[in-house]
Amino acid sequence: MASLIVTGGRPLSGTIRVSGAKNAALPILAATLLSKEPVALYDCPHLRDVANMLSILNALGVHWAWEEAVLRLDASSANAYVMPQGLSKELRSSIFMLGPLLARFGHAVCTFPGGCEIGHRPIDLHLKGLTMLGVEIREEHGLILCDGCAMRGAEIHLDYPSVGATENIMMAAVQAKGETVIQNAAREPEIEDLQSFLRKLGYGVSGAGSSTIRIVGGRVPSVMEEECVSHRIIPDRIVAGTMLCAAAMAGGEVTLQNAVPAHVASVMAKLREAGCAIQTEGDRIHITAHARPREIKLIETLPYPGFPTDMQAQMFALCTIADGTSMIVENVFENRFKHGAELLRMGASFTQKDRTIVIRGVERLMGTRVAARDLRGGAALTLAGLAADGETVVENAELIDRGYDRLDRMLASLGAQIRREEEKEERNTQ
Ligand code: UD1
Repeated sequence: MASLIVTGGRPLSGTIRVSGAKNAALPILAATLLSKEPVALYDCPHLRDVANMLSILNALGVHWAWEEAVLRLDASSANAYVMPQGLSKELRSSIFMLGPLLARFGHAVCTFPGGCEIGHRPIDLHLKGLTMLGVEIREEHGLILCDGCAMRGAEIHLDYPSVGATENIMMAAVQAKGETVIQNAAREPEIEDLQSFLRKLGYGVSGAGSSTIRIVGGRVPSVMEEECVSHRIIPDRIVAGTMLCAAAMAGGEVTLQNAVPAHVASVMAKLREAGCAIQTEGDRIHITAHARPREIKLIETLPYPGFPTDMQAQMFALCTIADGTSMIVENVFENRFKHGAELLRMGASFTQKDRTIVIRGVERLMGTRVAARDLRGGAALTLAGLAADGETVVENAELIDRGYDRLDRMLASLGAQIRREEEKEERNTQ
């Protein structure tokens, strides 16, 4: 067990480079199974979720090694399509393996995936999409057994633009016979990154970033002659948004490098509404915040390009210290307000009705002992600690490590007073 200990009241200042995106890296790692050539991934973040995904790939016969900042993978000797059960339960993104396993071996066996407990997070859209590609799916003793030997292209209309289902179907469809069209596809930037990786592997995928994605089954021979496939993971828009939010809450001046401002547009719009000055230039975002944040009338989480659900908790924390009353509606996941109870312990004031939170900003939060319940909620509590009086201890910091390459170090490099403690004693964290 690890905790982050934050002493509030210090403004942030300095420059920080944004790491590669977790949510782009995970499906791309799964897609390396589709490559017969070695793959070199640049800017793959060092995260717990990535380490778990690499262990799963290892169990399937994929060799990989970090060579300083480059992750090199070789899937030529992959020889298994049964996912290791323990690891799959720990990582929701293990479900991304279904598509590439089906494309590579014609078969896949996995368990229902785990991950952060935010809502029920079913996988019906993944399974429905694969079924439409001709995959036969049975459930036996908690295992999902898929036979994709007769996969053929299909027109698939998603009931909801699920990020994971879009990616899974894309990865399976690259080996389905004929053309697949995904309608109402998710439009997240991470899907464009997956498309650009699949194209480097020689697959005919187009339309990512729009609601219609087309996949032509089979590889294009000319691209197959490449000796090594190199790919740089796009910058993490949620890490960028979290650091902007940190500056808005602690005050100060921070510059982000290696950011894609367009990917953070909805977050920047809300932070401007809160009174922050934000300028962008190329891959840099500069934020200045010298006063208490103003209220934000309404934040509604939506699929991209709407406001990201993965930034809801951090903005919730910001609204707790805003001057005025703010409202947040969580439309994407039904159970994503667990950080609220912890923020209450720090002196926040809000009411909740179903998916809507109305937050009355207080002038100061009070440092106390709180516990991360999920990844982004844990990050939000850490940011709250920056703006609180005294010391805030955020327990269960391992959850934060799932999506940030040491959030404590990132904030400390900007002048925050924060340290990490590995706890020895057993404590009930429920
Ligand atoms: C991805 C992101 C996650 C982000 C989420 C929404 C990764 C690794 N994770 O998760 O950080 O919070 O997008 O932007 O990229 N749903 C179903 N049935 C399904 C699939 C999803 O009902 O088969 C529902 C979910 O319960 C949820 C909504 O659709 O309510 C959105 O989920 P989805 O877009 O699939 O999110 P993930 O891919 O799991």
